[in-house]
Amino acid sequence: MKKITFRMSSDFHVHFRDGPMLKKLIYWIASVYYYAVAMGNTKPPIVSGEQVANHRSEILKGASESGLPNFQPIMTVMLVYGMTPEILEGAYQAGARVLKLIPGGASTGSNHGVVLWDLPRFYPVLQKAMKLGMIFSVHCELIVNPQTGKNILLYDQERMGIKYFDDVIKYFPELKIIFEHISSKELCQYFLDLNSKYVAAGFTAHHPYVSYFNVCNSENRIINPYLYSKPIGKFQDDINAVRRLMTSGHPRSIYGSDLAAHPSEAKENKPYAAGILNLPKIAIPDLWQNVFLFDLGPGKKTKQIFENFTSGNGLRFYNLPDYDKTMTLINKKWKTPRLVEGMKVFKGGEYLDWQIMKENMIR
Ligand code: DOR
Ligand code: ZN
Ligand code: ZN
Repeated sequence: MKKITFRMSSDFHVHFRDGPMLKKLIYWIASVYYYAVAMGNTKPPIVSGEQVANHRSEILKGASESGLPNFQPIMTVMLVYGMTPEILEGAYQAGARVLKLIPGGASTGSNHGVVLWDLPRFYPVLQKAMKLGMIFSVHCELIVNPQTGKNILLYDQERMGIKYFDDVIKYFPELKIIFEHISSKELCQYFLDLNSKYVAAGFTAHHPYVSYFNVCNSENRIINPYLYSKPIGKFQDDINAVRRLMTSGHPRSIYGSDLAAHPSEAKENKPYAAGILNLPKIAIPDLWQNVFLFDLGPGKKTKQIFENFTSGNGLRFYNLPDYDKTMTLINKKWKTPRLVEGMKVFKGGEYLDWQIMKENMIR
């Protein structure tokens, strides 16, 4: 039986939620990932130091109760209207290392999020983030066209958001920025052209596969809500560009699954909730098999690139302590679960040739 062993994965983009949903998810996340960056778009959003500390305790308590006391969440705060340099500093003191932007109207829990054209009003906050060495984690989507006041088509929102970052990068060249869940060829190219050690690219576990027409019909109506995320999956050229950059061995190509669970009612009723449940024990062997091995072929180099993508690159960019813990994938066919905690999971009910060794899933 073929096996490969590499540094245990971390996930640099996870929505833990809070309350009962957090309790349902925590075991599935903490049993596979060493670190996970906890996105703060809870209701209400995480903004203050006190909220950071509470959310962190809730995650740690959940992990402990699931028998995983060593799990390490990395905390974020949201860039909302009302955020100030002082509040940000307080949040940093309480342990936040990431400032997250989900523009207003872009997705789940984004009601208070700053719209891209208002970013200049928050330059003092970005200045503070830069000084503190925090990471600015960006959901790059423009929802409304400011010229026409009309909604931008889902598949154009990422591309249309890019230009708002020209000035941010010009004025704060040493602010660490990660463009999350990159889904378009234009954002791939923008990232490559910037060629800055301060800018990183995040990739999910679903954008290498999901295309716009898996999600919507030709009238732009959502036909498969379980494949609907923000940003929405794009077209073949985009998928190719995403896969090329993910597997390129770029030192700042970073895994962030964007695990985003919703109760079935929210996935099945309009307006459909955006978010894909990337179950970690499926996502890791699936990426290995169907993206890295598939695109690069077997070999030492493929393993190295995959390991850097799922841990090393993120550790370095986020300046997190390295760890010895490893994970082994075995080449043994299995059927993925269709549901977890009663919710449909991405690629559930399918066969995979690789799986995480059971003993590796508990720390
Ligand atoms: O699809 C998404 N779901 N995109 C986001 O930006 C947020 C996330 C969620 O929280 O459900
Ligand atoms: Zn997002
Ligand atoms: Zn997200």
